[in-house]
Amino acid sequence: MDDKLWFTLFLLAKKGATKQPIKISSTKFCEELNVSQQTASRRLQELEKLGYITREIKRQGQLIKITRKGEDLLKELYYGLKTIFEEKPTIIRLEGEVFTGLGEGRFYLSLEPYKNQILEKLGFVPYPGTLNLKLRNKTDLEIRKMLKSFSGIKISGFKNNLRTYGDATCYPVIINNKISGAIIFAQRTHYGDDVLEVIAPVCLREVLNLNDGDIVVLTIDIRQFAKY
Ligand code: CDP
Repeated sequence: MDDKLWFTLFLLAKKGATKQPIKISSTKFCEELNVSQQTASRRLQELEKLGYITREIKRQGQLIKITRKGEDLLKELYYGLKTIFEEKPTIIRLEGEVFTGLGEGRFYLSLEPYKNQILEKLGFVPYPGTLNLKLRNKTDLEIRKMLKSFSGIKISGFKNNLRTYGDATCYPVIINNKISGAIIFAQRTHYGDDVLEVIAPVCLREVLNLNDGDIVVLTIDIRQFAKY
């Protein structure tokens, strides 16, 4: 369709022609379109020919109604603009309370196969341990669920002669607006759905001066996750 017809159709819609037949005077309409009377009437003819409007010529002017097809065309434009202007949130924030766990993180994060994969896939050697955070409010529990549904960075499990070790999934985060690290969800964990474990290249308790009961804020740029 000729791009100039878009605007003509848009102007008719603004006057209410998607809802009911509207009467337009050709002299005023061509002024609004900023074209000659001949051009304006040619555009209307073309829109009618393409099935975007219906016209009824009356002695005092013409009655114009936008058809379903015309409305669909405008909606296409509308949805296109919507995706441009209505940006989805890109950064999400959640907070949790520091607590001491069972001390298992230190053991797992000291294992070479995990350490090597974290270095390769996340770009840092993890401090041996995970900082445990208890989520205290409902929204944060929902965000945790949403996060788990994203396809994060996979850390594969492995086997040695003693036992097998499970997979884990990581999501890069910024901790207290200062330190880059990641949330790590271990496939096998003792913790419930209200706990997050965080890994980082440094000892977070030391660098951020954290004690049990302190609140830690995590920010996550979710644009990087494919499913979003
Ligand atoms: O399970 P638990 O919290 O007892 O300890 P862990 O996972 O074995 O981690 C050892 C200690 O290091 C804990 O006090 C963690 O809170 C802390 N940690 C930290 O401060 N920064 C990290 N990047 C990882 C762990």
